[in-house]
Amino acid sequence: MMSFLDKMKWRYAAKAMNGEKVPQEKIDRILEAIRLAPTSSGLQPFEVLVITNDSLKEQIRKIAFNQRQVTECSHLLVFAAWDTYTKERINHIFDLTNEIRGIKNEGWENYRQMLLDYYPQRDAELNFQHTARQTYIAMMAAMAQAAFDKVDSTPMEGFENDKLDKLLNLSEKGLKSTLILPLGYRDEANDWLTNLAKARHPKEELFTMID
Ligand SMILES: Cc1cc2nc3c(=O)[nH]c(=O)nc-3n(C[C@H](O)[C@H](O)[C@H](O)COP(=O)(O)O)c2cc1C
Repeated sequence: MMSFLDKMKWRYAAKAMNGEKVPQEKIDRILEAIRLAPTSSGLQPFEVLVITNDSLKEQIRKIAFNQRQVTECSHLLVFAAWDTYTKERINHIFDLTNEIRGIKNEGWENYRQMLLDYYPQRDAELNFQHTARQTYIAMMAAMAQAAFDKVDSTPMEGFENDKLDKLLNLSEKGLKSTLILPLGYRDEANDWLTNLAKARHPKEELFTMID
């Protein structure tokens, strides 16, 4: 069995995809990886839209600098973070946690109160910066699971967020798009990047050992 690092070497940000459909069971596993991804305080402050509709993909490609993976993919994931933290949103996940665990714990309830006293009062933009960061972790979980299933993916920030928010009516839901992730299969014949070596900083530039 290939190791995690082998999968990381296999994956790359595909620049062209061949339109082949990804089987539902693989999509389900990728979505489950997103659901299981860690988030700050476990708040999971985002939603993910799973788009297979061709005309919608076309419209999104137009506001994603015409990047072809947007239409050549099988499924297009749109990560949309909460536009801010509210008391309702925080209470919802804490109540859900109590329900799932079947216990109420004083330390946990104190922690809930601390978050309730802190986040909802804060500037919405600052809160959004925080919720947006959580989507990057979830996206990486999706990319890793995709690689395990030999599904290609391309992490993308290259789109006009405001226009995508409008197109998908995200602000009505209190959401703002942060990332899109086309899932599909690399088109080796048309992808200039397929056979190029990975370029990464050498270890010495990246890591500082402090003993
Ligand atoms: C947050 C983020 C945003 C990115 N946005 C785009 C994008 O809009 N279009 C694209 O083709 N690649 C995009 N990339 C891919 C990176 O360029 C790529 O991951 C990086 O060059 C490393 O190469 P590799 O992923 O092929 O190993 C993005 C990557 C990340 C992590």
